[in-house]
Amino acid sequence: MAGAAGAAIAVWANASAACAGAVAAHPAIASSASVARGVQFTLSLSMPNNIEPVIEVRGLSKRVKDATGELIILDQIDLSIEKGSSVAIVGASGSGKSTLLGLLAGLDSASSGSVRLLGRDLGALNEDERAALRSGSVGFVFQSFQLMPHLTALENVMLPLELRGGVPHKDITSRARDLLEQVGLGQRTAHYPKLLSGGEQQRVALARAFVTHPAILFADEPTGSLDAATGYAIIDLMFEMNRRNGATLILVTHDTELAERCDATVTIEAGRIVNSLSV
Ligand SMILES: Nc1ncnc2c1ncn2[C@@H]1O[C@H](COP(=O)(O)OP(=O)(O)OP(=O)(O)O)[C@@H](O)[C@H]1O
Ligand SMILES: [Mg+2]
Repeated sequence: MAGAAGAAIAVWANASAACAGAVAAHPAIASSASVARGVQFTLSLSMPNNIEPVIEVRGLSKRVKDATGELIILDQIDLSIEKGSSVAIVGASGSGKSTLLGLLAGLDSASSGSVRLLGRDLGALNEDERAALRSGSVGFVFQSFQLMPHLTALENVMLPLELRGGVPHKDITSRARDLLEQVGLGQRTAHYPKLLSGGEQQRVALARAFVTHPAILFADEPTGSLDAATGYAIIDLMFEMNRRNGATLILVTHDTELAERCDATVTIEAGRIVNSLSV
């Protein structure tokens, strides 16, 4: 299956830069997905030279201190993602997927390495500048939803646009209502999060992430709490946004249906990319 905008995947071992260039330039090898375990790989969605990727990650690591010394959560991740593509990040529980997503979105800071998001080096921005970049261009669906408990479903969805400013209140209200309809919650707009089921809260979180028409949607297990039928509807909604607005989708998922619809799958194992697959 061809990727969005004819995106192709190049996979190569970091060990040899010369080899990497050769492999990346060779379409037959570039589409190969078979890689050995335990070797660090780079994923790149190939693109014309004059187009900057929406996300470019180089040597990204995250380490934290723990009782036994230092815990390496992410180890030397390299990743390059083209505008308008869809990427599934998969891997076992605890492998580092949510940590990677948080770093890509500028919600967390790296121990070393760099992330360029929409051409901006996140490490060179302060917290306010990162927040402004996120609010203008990024939607994020957290694994734990993170809805505001004192706001209704409708108010939660409206919040990112209210904070950003510049859109009339009545337009924000109608856009938020429309999105809640689309995720099947038209009858729950006045409910507070504690009165919603887990799956309903997840759908509110998705509507909230969509409301700004973000250039990049990061979603951590977006279908994790949903039944199959609702999950399909949510997946369709995400890919419609990908098609209609050219939004880039970066999704952490255990859902094979969802991963298969993405242009590429990146597998994380113990904090390293061990496999990437173009579909
Ligand atoms: N701030 C932290 N301090 C210590 N350990 C952490 C911290 N953040 C994450 N970890 C550990 O890093 C590992 C990766 O966590 P992460 O949440 O990224 O995993 P995940 O792949 O998203 O897992 P899941 O599929 O269960 O959501 C886990 O073992 C976790 O316990
Ligand atoms: Mg996680």
